[in-house]
Amino acid sequence: MAQILVTEKIGAEGLDALTQAFTVDVRLDLTQEQLKEILPSYDALVVRSQTKVTADVLAHGTKLRVVGRAGTGVDNIDVDAATRAGILVVNAPASNSIAVAELAIGLLLGMARQIPQARASMQAGRWERGRFMGWEVRGKNLGLLGFGRIGSEVARRARALEMNVLAYDPFISQERAQQLGVQAVTLDTLLRESDVISIHTPLIDATRNLLNAERLAQLKPGAYLINCARGGIIDEAALVEALEHKQVAGAALDVWAQEPPKNNPLVAHPNVIALPHLGASTEEAQALTAADVAEGVVDALQNRTPRYAVNAPFVAPEAWQIVAPYVQLGRILARLAAQVVQSPASAYEIVYSGELATTTTEPIRLATLAGLLEGASESRVTPVNAALLARDRGLALSERKLPEAERYAALLELRVTTSDGALHTFGGTAVQDEPHVVQVDGYWLDVVPSQAMVFTFHQDRPGLIGHVGTILGAADINISSMHVGRMAPRGHAMMVLTVDEPVPGDVIAKIEAEAGIAKAFSVQL
Ligand code: NAD
Ligand code: MLT
Repeated sequence: MAQILVTEKIGAEGLDALTQAFTVDVRLDLTQEQLKEILPSYDALVVRSQTKVTADVLAHGTKLRVVGRAGTGVDNIDVDAATRAGILVVNAPASNSIAVAELAIGLLLGMARQIPQARASMQAGRWERGRFMGWEVRGKNLGLLGFGRIGSEVARRARALEMNVLAYDPFISQERAQQLGVQAVTLDTLLRESDVISIHTPLIDATRNLLNAERLAQLKPGAYLINCARGGIIDEAALVEALEHKQVAGAALDVWAQEPPKNNPLVAHPNVIALPHLGASTEEAQALTAADVAEGVVDALQNRTPRYAVNAPFVAPEAWQIVAPYVQLGRILARLAAQVVQSPASAYEIVYSGELATTTTEPIRLATLAGLLEGASESRVTPVNAALLARDRGLALSERKLPEAERYAALLELRVTTSDGALHTFGGTAVQDEPHVVQVDGYWLDVVPSQAMVFTFHQDRPGLIGHVGTILGAADINISSMHVGRMAPRGHAMMVLTVDEPVPGDVIAKIEAEAGIAKAFSVQL
């Protein structure tokens, strides 16, 4: 049974879902060294934001198939290294948007009315009605840096507070901005015009220190900043300066370049509201986050496409129902091709026909690539890293879609052209969601593939099949099914035997020595 390691606290909804299907170890507060030491035993790792899943850590995950991030940001995970290693990364990006958006609005109002400062003053025994003069948010310009899920939710709420909302996002959808009554602007305009800027971008190279000294100097004097996204997007030293010179009147910070912050003057600054990364800390968000990440991890371990895969294509559940057996089939056809085609391949093509021509086929392509590369790579090959490995090896797989499928409602065909100009074809279809191999090199048959098989290309004639059976029987190999396709009676034919155990080379040699057999192959999936 697959083993899952959980290194940070996640909601019971998620833990229960994981425990129902797998063995789960919750090990909080591991050092990096301890994590690396125990990771080789696990198939899945579930983290929040504190565990740093570096390339070095991932290298110790020799069995690791999936990393689940219970939350949105994946900046604590080396996603590139995971992709190279064929490890899927899943997160829960839709689970905490409302929690973060509500916190941003809370911080906006908190700054506008100096709520934390007034509370501290009261608790110190003072009554300072004149000191805490506030300002109304109505009619003020709120600039959103990043207009994705959370930015949009902040916009919706700010519009209800009668604010003018501006947004800068290189991938902004004008239509969505208009729908929410938001003005899409350049970064310069956003910096210049906003009374308050709220940050909602990921922490990536392009956003690290995005608000540096130079950009802070472009702000409207006396502007306010909110950061519920990630520490490191605002240059903290530059912000201290800007607060000192009143260029920035106040800041509300939920996230820090170093968490927890150490000797950071912003934490105790009188014009800063400092929070310990609470954006996602609502009961609702935590329940949803835990459930979503657990669903992603379970899907990955049970070979389904997770809804929120960070480094794999998304497939809508309706499409996945159609595509799933063909994902398996793509790998099977590729494994067959890799073992049956003997000459070096010069071109690979995959043809999606009939019903398959109108659905999303990227997961089928990736599974097929993985199948082709599996036997030829020392490193682990999965659909996650197949495209990268194929590119490194110069392996190209072209694709074609045909509206009509021969004989079946849908047909997947892998066509391999070898350097000597020969064409080999492997076709399959799904019958009641089960992959069937239905065509090999132009021979039509119907095989439910098994782990071990024998393929023969031979001359159709009485007694030959019996002889092959006798050879396998003498080697104590049990045949579970037999399928023959032929061009014409007593003409060229091929046979597929599914067997209970792999057939060794010396037994294949005996089969090939039979009169009438042109070629025999042992195939293992
Ligand atoms: P999202 O992917 O839906 O939106 C991010 C947006 O940022 C995207 O629209 C993207 O185009 C935009 N963007 C990227 N680069 C940009 C740039 N250089 N300038 C401007 N915009 C840019 O993500 P989301 O769900 O809205 O979350 C945003 C971030 O919030 C996450 O990446 C995460 O780091 C952070 N977050 C923090 C907490 C918390 O507890 N404080 C909780 C959840 C998420
Ligand atoms: C997130 O990106 O979802 C947040 O950082 C929340 C968290 O990890 O708790």
